[in-house]
Amino acid sequence: MATATRSLARAALRAGTRPAALAAPRMAFRQSGRRFYSSEPTKSSTSPWIWISALAVAGGAGGWYYLQNNSASAPAPKVFTPKFEDYQEVYNEIARRLDEKEDYDDGSYGPVLLRLAWHCSGTYDKETGTGGSNGATMRFSPEKDHGANAGLAAARDFLEPVKQKFPWISYSDLWILGGVAAIQEMMGPAIPYRPGRVDKDFTACTPDGRLPDGSKTQDHVRSIFYRMGFNDQEIVALLGGHAVGRCHTDRSGYDGPWTFSPTVLTNDFYNLLLNEKWQWKKWNGPKQYEDKKTQSLMMLPADYSLIQDKKFRPWVELYAKDSDAFFRDFSAVIVKLFELGVPFPEGTENQRWVFKTLNV
Ligand code: HEM
Repeated sequence: MATATRSLARAALRAGTRPAALAAPRMAFRQSGRRFYSSEPTKSSTSPWIWISALAVAGGAGGWYYLQNNSASAPAPKVFTPKFEDYQEVYNEIARRLDEKEDYDDGSYGPVLLRLAWHCSGTYDKETGTGGSNGATMRFSPEKDHGANAGLAAARDFLEPVKQKFPWISYSDLWILGGVAAIQEMMGPAIPYRPGRVDKDFTACTPDGRLPDGSKTQDHVRSIFYRMGFNDQEIVALLGGHAVGRCHTDRSGYDGPWTFSPTVLTNDFYNLLLNEKWQWKKWNGPKQYEDKKTQSLMMLPADYSLIQDKKFRPWVELYAKDSDAFFRDFSAVIVKLFELGVPFPEGTENQRWVFKTLNV
């Protein structure tokens, strides 16, 4: 029954029939967030060069060597160099399967895929250059067992058949592509993408404690994100990711979604944070806020600290009233997050691809 209700709500949202109070501005900015398509270069690209540079990126970093057979008389190994179209196919496969299991959470794997992409990137340390999405070390213990990564097996398992179908893509590139597909298919902004991540073994696992703790507030949040190289504006833009998904008592211990539309990326996280009255939830679980009106939404102490802090708050106010600004800044900061510590070939900074969405 709950599932049926959620499915209906999601169908309504996708059809643009969300509650009147939320509808008009959101649909407008969603359209404007989808300005870029695969055949068009992003603003920063020079069009004649996009395909050439795309080949360079793929060739330089993503070449996959396929040995046809290893007998002495065999022809030379065939080199498969994936191109834009090959990555688009992987994107399509992920996108097609996102909503396959109606009974998973709110009906979409999008949120948990975004969380996986963020958690493998968010281990980056700019001082030592360790961590980040390059390596996909969360496949291994001890990293996969870190408390902050509880529940992410759901996302890794979801992507495993995609890896089997397209064995040439590295896990590290695949997990980030999963995050990109999740954002775009949940009606978020276009997220330009560069391949080139290479898988590493367990020796590259990062120590526990690099990801943020939801029970802590602004000082902790700053120290975690400053370590990665982000500023206050970027931190607030990143936290808008909590517009989608939910907390699970059997994963983090917290409970509930942040917004009423947990499978559609909007700026509701900021609107609700500012405009609802929040109170401590009375329960046996960890300290979290609930909205006074419906008691069905939640905020972590770390989320709530964004409006308690003098420097964070103006950014929350901006993103609450200007969803275009949120989409623009969210896209930019997610690209930065997903690329932290990845040794891309020099000269490819402006050579990213934008995948065409399925969920138009
Ligand atoms: C201060 C920073 C952050 C803290 C303390 C934090 C904490 C958490 C916690 C406790 C959960 C619940 C996990 C569960 O029980 O399933 C969660 C879920 C989630 N987080 Fe964050 N997070 C932070 C930043 C971010 C960022 C930067 C993003 C992405 C841009 C993000 C995206 C998500 C998503 C999409 C989920 C939902 C996952 C699902 O539905 O399965 N978070 N986060």
